[in-house]
Amino acid sequence: MDKNAPIGVFDSGVGGISVLRELVKLMPNEDYLYLGDSVNAPYGTKTLEEARKLTITHIEELLHSGAKSIVIACNTATSAAVSVLRNMYPEIPIVGIEPAIKPAVLDKPNSRIVVMATPMTLKQEKFRTLLEKYEDQAEIIPLPCPGLMEFVERGELESGELREYLVRLLQPVMEKKIDAIVLGCTHYPFAGKMISEVAGKDVQIFDGGYGTAKEMKRRLEAAGLLTNEEKEGQVRFCNSRDTEEERRLCEFLLHI
Ligand code: DGL
Repeated sequence: MDKNAPIGVFDSGVGGISVLRELVKLMPNEDYLYLGDSVNAPYGTKTLEEARKLTITHIEELLHSGAKSIVIACNTATSAAVSVLRNMYPEIPIVGIEPAIKPAVLDKPNSRIVVMATPMTLKQEKFRTLLEKYEDQAEIIPLPCPGLMEFVERGELESGELREYLVRLLQPVMEKKIDAIVLGCTHYPFAGKMISEVAGKDVQIFDGGYGTAKEMKRRLEAAGLLTNEEKEGQVRFCNSRDTEEERRLCEFLLHI
C-alpha cells in the first residue's frame, strides 16, 4: 500500500466536508479524495438495502481510484454498510462516524440530550446499541430530521425557511429544558449556527467530526500509512452531480 496515496472520504452528498475539514486540520500533509453522491442523496430516507448498495458502490470507486484508507463521513452510510465493507476489505483501514453521544454524556452527565439524525440512522441496530450503552447516564432523545440535509445540499445555511424548519422541529423537544444537542448527521454542522440560535446559547452542540479524524490518524499511524510528504496536501472533490455549481459549493463548505 502506498503511504502517499490519498485518503478517500465518502458521504451521500456534501455533508462529509464537515469531517474532511477536521481531517485536513489534523493531517494537513495528506492528500484527500472526497466523493459525494448528491444525485442519489438523501440516503437517510431510503431503504437500508438501497443505502448499503450505493455506499458499497461508491467506496469501491474510491478504492479503484487508489485511496489508501476510507473515511465513511456519513452516519447513515456508516450504519448501513460499515461492517459489510470491513468484511469485504479487511486490509484497508475503514473508519466510520457515529453520533457523538459518548462525548456529550461525558461532558454533561445526567442531562437531557437530543440526538438529531436521519430517520435511517436512528432506526438501525448500531444506534440502538449506542443508546443502550449511555441511556442510564443521561436522558437521550432521538430526533429524526427528514428534510434538513436538503438545505445544506442547496447551500442554504442561513435562510428564513431553514429557521422556520428548525423552530418547528425543535419546539416539541424544547418544551422541557435541554442541555445538549448531538449533530448525528455530517450535514448538520453546516446548519450549526442556526441550530444554536434556535436552541439557545445554553445548549451545547456536539458533533463527531473531530473524533472521526483522530481515529483515522490513529489507524494510519498503526498501519504505518501516514504520508512522509512534508508539503501541504491536496483535496480533490468528485461528485455524482458533476456541475460547476456543485464544485463551488464543495470548495465553499471546506473553507467556511
Ligand atoms: N450526511 C449523512 C449523515 O451523516 C446523511 C444525509 C443523507 O440522508 O443522505 O447521516
